[in-house]
Amino acid sequence: MLVLGIESSCDETGVALVESGGTGLPRLLAHGLHSQIRMHQAYGGVVPELASRDHIRRVLPLASQVLRDADRPLSDVDVVAYTRGPGLAGALLVGAGVACALGAAIDKPVLGVHHLEGHLLSPFLSADAPGFPFVALLVSGGHTQLMRVDGVGRYELLGETIDDAAGEAFDKSAKLMGLGYPGGPALSRLAQQGDATAFKLPRPLLHSGDLDFSFAGLKTAVLTQAKKLGEELELRKADLAASTEAAIVEVLLKKSVAALHETGLKRLVVAGGVGANRLLREQLNAECRKRGVRVHYPELDLCTDNGAMIAMAAAMRLDAQKESASRLYAFDVRPRWPLAELSSA
Ligand code: KG4
Ligand code: ZN
Repeated sequence: MLVLGIESSCDETGVALVESGGTGLPRLLAHGLHSQIRMHQAYGGVVPELASRDHIRRVLPLASQVLRDADRPLSDVDVVAYTRGPGLAGALLVGAGVACALGAAIDKPVLGVHHLEGHLLSPFLSADAPGFPFVALLVSGGHTQLMRVDGVGRYELLGETIDDAAGEAFDKSAKLMGLGYPGGPALSRLAQQGDATAFKLPRPLLHSGDLDFSFAGLKTAVLTQAKKLGEELELRKADLAASTEAAIVEVLLKKSVAALHETGLKRLVVAGGVGANRLLREQLNAECRKRGVRVHYPELDLCTDNGAMIAMAAAMRLDAQKESASRLYAFDVRPRWPLAELSSA
């Protein structure tokens, strides 16, 4: 079965072709990505209307390129999958509309996929694919969640952020340090030259006894610190970046360890944009090695949004018979969509 996947929930247009069948995991044949980062940079963040329009411009040329790269005609595609949510409504509508139009054109069914399920299953695209069950740390620009994953479509929410997401904490802190958008990678790069112990920043909810997160207070503490520094901020920016990164990473690390402890599981999967963070990977690797826990990540270029994870999630759902694709080309999107809603026993 050939699955064409389309991702358009935010600021990346992604298209990919995955092949499943036989006994193994679905296999990635080709994928293409167009990042809108440069377009949104001038505005300091994602402008939803510009995002939608750019998805319209990019998605069909990308699909043609992916099919060419895989050397397969569109008519070979068995299912067209798209991100149904969560995300920006207008941006989602582009992917959904194009997927349904392509499906109708070749008389093949379509399937709407949950964006976070895409992230969650993205490590199955790597050479070192995990096995079920595992604890998943989902850390993206909009979500921070710990889940217990027992199989495809069997997701139990263990804890989540009560305010900002980890990626948001990176992005907002970076913005107030004048590091532009997206802030995570920029802040992390600058942090490498700084002293992580230079500023005492809060580790919110670290000892809350549950698996929830809170990052809004940390952002406020970074703002207060930046204001206090005034003109000196320029000189101390690397130290502030390093201290911020250390605070976010410590909370993610400790809560992940707590989730492993609570579930008794010995496998951790890290997914979502913040999963690309170097310090987070180093510290998780060290901690997991100590505890005899196997830790899995998506390939670095598949941590942030992409079409491969959408095609993969669709293929795995179909293979697990969690869902069937449909020839009803009436689509809707779910800008807000809790992942736990997908769960079935
Ligand atoms: O998963 P993703 O591409 O989009 C969402 O679904 O939200 O995640 C984007 C987030 C942004 O907040 C970005 O700053 C963050 O991931 N990010 C990073 C790094 N690379 C991306 N944060 C910290 N360190 C990184 N290396
Ligand atoms: Zn994402």
